[in-house]
Amino acid sequence: MLIFEEEMVKVFGGRSWVYLAHESQLPEPNSYLSLRMGRRPLLLTRDKHGAIHGIFNRCAHRGATICRDDSGVARSFQCPYHGWTFRNTGELVGVPWPQGYGPDFDKSQFGLRKVERVKAYRGFIFGTLNGDATSLEDWLGPARDWLDYWIDRACGGEVIVRSAAFRMGYRGNWKLAYDNAGDGYHPSFSHRSLLDMASRMGEAKDMSYFGRTPDDGPMKTYSLGHGHSVIDQRPAYEGPPGSFWRNQRPQPGRERFEELIRSQYADRADALLDLCVGAQINLSIFPNLLIIGNQIQVIEPLGVDRTQLTWHATTVRGVPDEVNTMRMRTQEDFPAFGEPDDQANFEEVQRGLAVVEEEWIYMNRGLDARWQTVGEDGVVKAPVTDEMHMRGYYAEWTSQMDGEDA
Ligand code: FES
Ligand SMILES: [Fe+2]
Repeated sequence: MLIFEEEMVKVFGGRSWVYLAHESQLPEPNSYLSLRMGRRPLLLTRDKHGAIHGIFNRCAHRGATICRDDSGVARSFQCPYHGWTFRNTGELVGVPWPQGYGPDFDKSQFGLRKVERVKAYRGFIFGTLNGDATSLEDWLGPARDWLDYWIDRACGGEVIVRSAAFRMGYRGNWKLAYDNAGDGYHPSFSHRSLLDMASRMGEAKDMSYFGRTPDDGPMKTYSLGHGHSVIDQRPAYEGPPGSFWRNQRPQPGRERFEELIRSQYADRADALLDLCVGAQINLSIFPNLLIIGNQIQVIEPLGVDRTQLTWHATTVRGVPDEVNTMRMRTQEDFPAFGEPDDQANFEEVQRGLAVVEEEWIYMNRGLDARWQTVGEDGVVKAPVTDEMHMRGYYAEWTSQMDGEDA
């Protein structure tokens, strides 16, 4: 089997948990989403009682994709090919002219295959085809604390994903995006034009380490086990309510919003303004979930050298509209001005890796620097340019790929 095909079977749901969607994307009973688990087409549905199911979007008759819409509300799905109909929990409920199958035809044998386990952690839905996989909580491990931070930032509110997504494809392997999300070494170089643009709009706090090694700065990277990692940019902005807002990258029009929010919500204004800007973390949950600032980014492998990245913007329930409007503005700039820098590099790396005569790449940064510390929970902390996030997830990748098929 080709390595890519093996990854789709073993890494993407075969042996462990993969991210599927956020609960707010299934807002009412009988909501559904079409997505992929690796390359398997999947329907994520909420049944009439509110429970969530993952069912393969592959007709039990001859394999056609049953539902061809991205999302919607449906109690059942009828396959457009020959009209077999399935409930949104997977059971086959109707077959046109069943007498043609003879008297022994048993509909209960022809339901859609389901994802063995589908589980949500505080709104984040994961699935696995491995009935013996460790619990989702154990799989997330110390990454849970970072998810909690991100969720609790909504000040008792609820995070919502319901806007149209920002979708981009690149001609490169899916792991190049995972490499990059935990890479604190590249921004000063790869994103120079974005940093320059920010500095032209006013004082840019994130330029303060520009030209110096970011390793002398307060940003840190943490290896969280199971291939998960996080870059913490918050130490640069620690402080009382309002610190996130005061330290954000300048954006056109922000003064008007600030004035409006301060005049209407005087005592809550600083906390509300902090919610308008990014969470200042890059949290990577192996193999396909990246939380970047306020956004949820999903990696979808399409082929060995084809990947789709989807950025979901988030809003918060229970806050003034102005907060969510400004929040959407702050989520526009990186996908538009930063992500193309990264994707251009992914394609160039893919090109370079096609030189089969050169087999190795180098991901040893930090290995001999003696700058890492290990906490009691096994979490490793290092200056932000350390490449241990790559070494960490390749250890997880290796153990999944070396295991037996689930
Ligand atoms: S392939 Fe679905 S009904 Fe025939
Ligand atoms: Fe980047």
